[in-house]
Amino acid sequence: MSDKTLIGPFRQLLTMDHLPESGPVQDEQLQILQNAGMVVSGNTIVATGSFEQLRKEHRDAPVQELEGHFCAMPGLIDAHTHICWGGNRAADFAMRIAGKSYLEIAESGGGIWSTVQHTREASFEELYQNTRNHATTLLKEGVTTVEVKSGYGLNFDSEIKMLEVIQSINMELAIDLVPTCLAAHIADKSFHGDQMAYLEWVVRELLPEVTQRSLSKRVDIFIEKSAFTHEAAHYYLARAREMGFEITAHVDQFTAGSSLVALDYHPLSVDHLEASTDREIEAIAISDAVAMALPGASIGLGERFTPARKLLDKGACLAIASDWNPGSAPQGDILMQASLLATYEHLSTAETLSGITHRTAKALGLMDRGLLKAGCRADFIAFDTDDYRNILYHQGKMKPVKIWKSGSEIHGEL
Ligand code: NIG
Ligand code: FE
Repeated sequence: MSDKTLIGPFRQLLTMDHLPESGPVQDEQLQILQNAGMVVSGNTIVATGSFEQLRKEHRDAPVQELEGHFCAMPGLIDAHTHICWGGNRAADFAMRIAGKSYLEIAESGGGIWSTVQHTREASFEELYQNTRNHATTLLKEGVTTVEVKSGYGLNFDSEIKMLEVIQSINMELAIDLVPTCLAAHIADKSFHGDQMAYLEWVVRELLPEVTQRSLSKRVDIFIEKSAFTHEAAHYYLARAREMGFEITAHVDQFTAGSSLVALDYHPLSVDHLEASTDREIEAIAISDAVAMALPGASIGLGERFTPARKLLDKGACLAIASDWNPGSAPQGDILMQASLLATYEHLSTAETLSGITHRTAKALGLMDRGLLKAGCRADFIAFDTDDYRNILYHQGKMKPVKIWKSGSEIHGEL
């Protein structure tokens, strides 16, 4: 009995292979295999190509023969989320769309701090169920790898609780969860505005525990007027790098300039960038960092979009993530958000799909996914269409009808 399985035929198989790692991408550069199949062994792709050809070459392999017209592509990768939270911020949203400012909302008990209080109050089990529901929704929508941040704990027990929840769900569900420690989201109120003292505490007490228990290899910081100053960020990112953490950062969301601070520490990605000016765009474009657009936050806050077109034209590696969180980005649908970013920023289909597959895989340092080729992880999704252009044309309404994670099709077990 062969340990391989042939899956197909797919009318179109979008491999996302042979595409540039950064800068603009034309749709003509997409590799589209027609009437294609994929041979999978365990969690890995062994071969892609013509279904009939593969059937001849792998005679002993059982065949999972598909009936209908399908277009397949790599599983989506959402490399920036905050899906582990307690409580609800519908009141914030209602106030915001009715015209209240961020400060007014915070003064009436909303904002990040209100989620911190609810997350602290939530039991492990409650937080687990909420987060599991979010992760399950993402998997149903075709997301096979998702990054999840802490950052609503801001004290030892609650930050660790969040990271433990993320770790447990990663072990239970098929979707891969990549944890990031965002203790530097805002400073805990018990430090009375002393950002440096708070970050020193994170460095001294929290991060060693995170490392020792392998709860995360990544740290994130929100560098912004309402969060951490440039000076505080320099201190924190330098320490985090010394401790061996990979770096990502929330930068240039409302105020330009903080991306330049983060770039000093070789981040895997710089995220948000809605306020980036030409100066920041140039610096990001020549760096190795992935430029992460978060259209869900622009839609949630009614703010401008990240200048994705300019970033690409200057040569940046542009990726797109949902930023799903209870405050600024409550919607969480990455395919819809990527489609909307494409219309507003004039991105090609190839650029948009690259941004939610192989380019965003780079932001997580996961080079084994985001492409469909031999040796890569067999994470892929299929849409009920024979033309890949329908995926973005439906602006997020067309969802995948079949999902494979690590070589196994996901059925009713979601
Ligand atoms: O990515 N910008 C900072 N952090 C989150 C918002 C978190 C919240 O509002 O709860 C973001 O938009
Ligand atoms: Fe975020």
